[in-house]
Amino acid sequence: MDIEPGELTVGQLSERSGVAISALHFYERQGLILSRRTSGNQRRYKRDTLRRVALVRIAQRVGVPLAEVAAILKLLPENRTPTRADWERISECWQAELDRRILHLEQLRDDFKDCVGCGCLSLDRCALANPYDALAAKGPGPRRLMDNEGEPCHPGKCA
Ligand code: FES
Repeated sequence: MDIEPGELTVGQLSERSGVAISALHFYERQGLILSRRTSGNQRRYKRDTLRRVALVRIAQRVGVPLAEVAAILKLLPENRTPTRADWERISECWQAELDRRILHLEQLRDDFKDCVGCGCLSLDRCALANPYDALAAKGPGPRRLMDNEGEPCHPGKCA
């Protein structure tokens, strides 16, 4: 078998990562993972591809679009195994985006028990928190969850 030390076949990558071979092929078409082709046109993956696949799976679980994941993974070197410093650098790159997503999830978990200022006036608290939908003057959406630029914030933390 044409395989170099530290390389994995697609079957081995699938078995170790828990991701179906068809999904791995899809990841490759999306530029999320890379392979070399043997003379018999079989794929061979460097072992650090397992770490890339793990990142993709976790990102998918929390709803990060694959295009964003691909853009981040493109920052990793292709000609050598990424170092810890490489991974730290890409972690920093999308920290702000992940923080924004975490905030959205926290809002979903914590803030939807109260008036969100969306204009529905359907809760007994709405008459106090958003009388006559006064928050509509600040723009569309759940104004008690957003800042003036339409970004998420917690009630009481923004105007
Ligand atoms: S929850 Fe919609 S306006 Fe209060």
